[in-house]
Amino acid sequence: MATQGTTGANNVTTRPPPNPSPLRTAKFFQANMRILVTGGAGFIGSHLVDRLMQNEKNEVVVVDNYFTGSKDNLKQWFGHPRFELIRHDVTEPLLIEVDQIYHLACPASPIFYKHNPVKTIKTNVIGTLNMLGLAKRVGARILLTSTSEVYGDPLVHPQDESYWGNVNPIGVRSCYDEGKRVAETLMFDYHRQHGIEIRIARIFNTYGPRMNIDDGRVVSNFIAQAIRNEPLTVQAPGTQTRSFCYVSDMVDGLIRLMEGNNTGPINLGNPGEFTMLELAENVKELINPEVKIIHVENTPDDPRQRKPVISKAKEVLGWEPTITLHYTYVLSIGINKPGLIIRVRFMLWSVASSTNSFSFHWIYSGQLPVRQEHMQRL
Ligand SMILES: NC(=O)c1ccc[n+]([C@@H]2O[C@H](COP(=O)([O-])OP(=O)(O)OC[C@H]3O[C@@H](n4cnc5c(N)ncnc54)[C@H](O)[C@@H]3O)[C@@H](O)[C@H]2O)c1
Repeated sequence: MATQGTTGANNVTTRPPPNPSPLRTAKFFQANMRILVTGGAGFIGSHLVDRLMQNEKNEVVVVDNYFTGSKDNLKQWFGHPRFELIRHDVTEPLLIEVDQIYHLACPASPIFYKHNPVKTIKTNVIGTLNMLGLAKRVGARILLTSTSEVYGDPLVHPQDESYWGNVNPIGVRSCYDEGKRVAETLMFDYHRQHGIEIRIARIFNTYGPRMNIDDGRVVSNFIAQAIRNEPLTVQAPGTQTRSFCYVSDMVDGLIRLMEGNNTGPINLGNPGEFTMLELAENVKELINPEVKIIHVENTPDDPRQRKPVISKAKEVLGWEPTITLHYTYVLSIGINKPGLIIRVRFMLWSVASSTNSFSFHWIYSGQLPVRQEHMQRL
């Protein structure tokens, strides 16, 4: 087991962590580390599982209720002796012997988390309590994927970890952002009171293959609209900014945080900043120059600016994004059922900034339902 972490807040001295289960040293264990990934069938979770499975010393257990995730994202690991998938809702207790917990379970897209806000806050609060209870019982280290949404509609720009945020506690997004804030509080309370080893990542917008095309996240949203010949809907005023981090960089940051000695919270994201209008114009130019860009009413409490300060991640984890969003794309399409479903992959030309080398990255791959009239466009 790794050593106790240093706290990222107030330099509080903590009690030593509980001992790991004696079962872990038993001879019949083939892998050195059993790792639980909650929400592992989702977008970021499934990429994390891929990376963890590449290490032969890891055994990976995924729990997921498939609310927004899919078994399809993990099918490459079915039947693997070091992999296990459990259908489970984290709002229910879980008894299992593990050494590390990556706690990702929570819908990340506004469409889904607003669909059932009570369930979203239960997932954030009860789900995190259950995972902390498990970490306490077996002496596991636990990492929470928190979010830049804890900064709300920020009054300081860019945002570093010392900023406490500007969050509406009673808005339609509160189930998510206040839920994550409570989850962070619970993590630190278990750390101070019970000596649990915690890690908190504050994730900024992330993109890559396996994003759900219709879940309302802006990158996949614009691409789907452009290919369907529908107007690109930019929420007013369009000058609001976001920063986009490629998923492989994000996974690298999460693993470094888990393996390092700092509790966080640590911002993980790409400081490159785009306005939503810029993003829409580039998608239009590249995929469908004839499509219109229209402004639609914004959703309440939508942050105007979002850009991480990542100096702490650089200093403490030696981490920074290597992949920068560029605007060249290659599209490959396979038709599954003629006229109904197409399999699409969008490739973005990206540059690995640390090595100055060019590389291609799929930004979306998955199924896209299309209507007959859209087929002409393809
Ligand atoms: N993708 C981003 O840009 C982003 C930004 C900030 C934070 N995050 C955080 O990262 C984590 C993963 O995000 P993602 O983009 O992969 O989202 P996702 O929706 O693709 O994945 C979430 C996974 O959690 C599962 N899940 C949801 N509720 C559950 C429950 N009650 N019990 C068990 N499983 C449950 C879903 O089925 C899904 O597989 C989330 O915690 C999210 O808040 C993501």
